[in-house]
Amino acid sequence: MNKNSIRKIAITINTNCIECGKCIEVCPMGVLTCENNPPVSKKPVVFDPEVCISCGHCIAVCPRNAINHNQLLLDDFQEISSMQKLDWDQFILFTRQRRSIRKFNTRPVPIELLDKILKESTRYSPTGHNRQMTEVMIFEGEYLKSIRDEINNTIIRFSNYLSYIRIFSKKIESVWRSMRSFRNMIESGMDPSTRNAPVAILFTADKRIKESEVDATILSYHTLLSAEILGLRSCYFGALINALPYSRKLRKLIKLSSHQKLVCGLLLGYTNIHYNRLVSRKNINLKVMKEL
Ligand SMILES: Cc1cc2nc3c(=O)[nH]c(=O)nc-3n(C[C@H](O)[C@H](O)[C@H](O)COP(=O)(O)O)c2cc1C
Repeated sequence: MNKNSIRKIAITINTNCIECGKCIEVCPMGVLTCENNPPVSKKPVVFDPEVCISCGHCIAVCPRNAINHNQLLLDDFQEISSMQKLDWDQFILFTRQRRSIRKFNTRPVPIELLDKILKESTRYSPTGHNRQMTEVMIFEGEYLKSIRDEINNTIIRFSNYLSYIRIFSKKIESVWRSMRSFRNMIESGMDPSTRNAPVAILFTADKRIKESEVDATILSYHTLLSAEILGLRSCYFGALINALPYSRKLRKLIKLSSHQKLVCGLLLGYTNIHYNRLVSRKNINLKVMKEL
């Protein structure tokens, strides 16, 4: 469901149409289709506009601006003059030098920078059915400190609890050891929860909508890469996702509505840490299926 879906979708083809058939080829829902079946020409006709997902492919592909869509403005579709080719080596270097930062410095992140990232980059991420419904929340200052303190309290509580029951299984023992380690960090004045980051961005999904968690995840990585290009460093905020089910106080602070689910979060900021080497990873676990 799109916000715009309150208004009925109306699509018309104007007289500029040269019947090249490109809009028919790209329409994912078959809303722009051929007049006859089998087709006798490439003249598009509109079939059940209610199922249109407003992806705008027809507008972007049409060489003559012949498509009028009542929910999409032609002016919002910037013309592509020549496609800028990105250098592969630079791209690989860029993605492989990204690191999850475990110690941000005190340099603040201007809200204007986050606004720029979300407005100029993140919102262009793909979403299933072109939903564009992921809700993004920004936490900073005292609010983020309260979240940090409560995650730390949850770690300590959890560590105490697990110390009694760790004897029951190897799995519990292993979780307890991680918690004990985090607890040691907290007690020595470190911040394993928010890594001293000045800002956290959270991405939420609608529990009622299939695949909306995937949308949120894609938006988060798009945001992460965009932030890195602008010199911001990042770390996924799994500590919050993991602590949330165990703390009512955290859930109160995050203020999710009953149908909202927190999918992932990013900690953003700057760091004084300098890495001398790129990321190393295992090979992708790959299976290719071709012959039946
Ligand atoms: C879903 C997810 C949650 C994560 N949560 C945390 C976290 O809570 N704290 C943390 O320090 N790192 C977190 N990380 C970072 C991973 O530990 C990190 O990506 C991995 O160790 C590889 O290191 P790199 O990102 O520096 O290449 C998370 C990463 C992902 C993808």
